[in-house]
Amino acid sequence: MHLYRSALLRFADDGSALYDEDGLLATAPDERGVQRVVAAGPWQALAARHAGQPVTHWPGRLIAPGFVDLHIHFPQTDVIGSPADGLLPWLETYTFPHESRFADPAYAAGVARFFLDELARNGVTTALAFATSHPGSVDALMAEARARRLRLIGGKVLQDRHSPDGVRDQTEQSLIDTEALIHRWHGVDRLGYAITPRFAPTSTPAQLAGAGEIAARHPGVWIQSHVAENVDEIRWARELFPASRSYLGVYGDCGLLRERAIYAHCIHLDDADRALMRETGAAAAVSPTSNLFLGSGFFDYAAAERAGMAYGLASDVGGGTSFSPFRTMLAAYYVGREGQTRPGLSLAPEHLWWQHTAGAAQALGLQGVVGNLQPGCEADFVVLNPRATPLLARRTQAAQNLAELLFAMIVLGDDRTVERTVIA
Ligand code: GUN
Ligand code: ZN
Repeated sequence: MHLYRSALLRFADDGSALYDEDGLLATAPDERGVQRVVAAGPWQALAARHAGQPVTHWPGRLIAPGFVDLHIHFPQTDVIGSPADGLLPWLETYTFPHESRFADPAYAAGVARFFLDELARNGVTTALAFATSHPGSVDALMAEARARRLRLIGGKVLQDRHSPDGVRDQTEQSLIDTEALIHRWHGVDRLGYAITPRFAPTSTPAQLAGAGEIAARHPGVWIQSHVAENVDEIRWARELFPASRSYLGVYGDCGLLRERAIYAHCIHLDDADRALMRETGAAAAVSPTSNLFLGSGFFDYAAAERAGMAYGLASDVGGGTSFSPFRTMLAAYYVGREGQTRPGLSLAPEHLWWQHTAGAAQALGLQGVVGNLQPGCEADFVVLNPRATPLLARRTQAAQNLAELLFAMIVLGDDRTVERTVIA
C-alpha cells in the first residue's frame, strides 16, 4: 500500500465534486498488479488507519482523477490547425491525404508514441481513439498503449465508399479485419476495442449492417462514430439513407446504438434523436474546440439534460485544436455560454471537470473503473500545480472556494499545470 497526501478531488455518484484540502489517497495493487484506490478522503480522518505505510507528500498540489478523452483521432496529431471551409473540405483537403500515410506501420508507430506522450503530458489517462482504416495503425497504437499499461480504447476506421484511394477499405475485408482486431486486442491487459465506422456517408449500407452484426456478437466492445456535426454532412447522410428517420436513425437502424456506443458531436439532433440516445444508452462525445474551429455549431447542453442523454467531453484532435483538457473544458464553457442561437447558460466548473473525468467514464460504461478516485477505482491520477504560472498562482491564491479554484485552472491552466501523470 502507498499513501499520497495533498489536496484531493473526486466525484460522488451524483456527479457532485468531493474535495479535501488536506487529503489522503491510498492505493494498492490488485491481483493483476494494477494499482487501485483503497481509501480516499480527509487526511485527519483516515491517516491513523493506515499508520506505518509509506507516504508521498505533495504540499500545495492537487491530486485529481486522470482525464478521460471521449473522442480523439491519433492519426490526426499532425492535422491540428488545418483551416478549411467546414468539415467536408477539411476531410478532403487535409485529413484523408494525411491518414493515407498510416499504411506504413513504422510511420504509425512513431505517431502513436508521440500521441501517447502528448496525452500523458496533458493529464489524459484514458482515451477512446480512432486509428485509420489500416489495421496496422490499430496494432501500432495498441502495442504502444499496452507497453505503458494504459486503459485505452481504439479501433480501425471503416470507410468503404466516398473516400479516396489510400484510405478506402473493402466491405468484406474490413469486417474480417475488425473481428480479428477485436480478438487480438479487446480485453488484453487494460485495452479495449471500438467498432469504428467513420460516419454514415463513407460506409455502404452493407458495411454498416456488418458493423452492427459484429456489435451484437461482442456486447462488451465499444462503438464509435460521428453524427450530426455539420449541416452539409447531415444533408449528405439524409440523401444517402432516405429510409431512416434521421441521420442518427441510420445508426439505430443498423444496430449501432447501444450502451458503449459513443457518437462524436451530436450538435444538430432533434428531441426524438435525443430520446433515442437515452433509450439506447448511447452517449455523445462533446467536442467544443473542434466545433468552434470547424464552425460546426454548438452542442445543446440544456436539450441534452432535458432528454436525459449521456455525454462527456472530448478533444476531437485534429479537428479539435488542443490535447489539453483545460482548453477543452474552457471551450465547453464558451459553447454553453453562447447565447445567440439559444439562451446561454453558465456551466459550473465542477460540472465541466466531471464531464472530462467521471462523466466521460460513465458514458463509456467505466464508472467506478477510471475517471474517479473513489475506492475500487484504478489509480490513474494527475498531480496539478495551481501555482504553475505567475498568473495562475495569483488567481488561485485568491480563490475562496472549490468552484473558484477549478474555474481559475480551467481558464488559465494548460500542460504546465500537469506536474505528473500517474498510471495505475
Ligand atoms: N466526420 C467524419 N470523419 C471525421 C473526422 O475525422 N473528424 C471530424 N471532426 N468529423 C468527422
Ligand atoms: Zn472526430
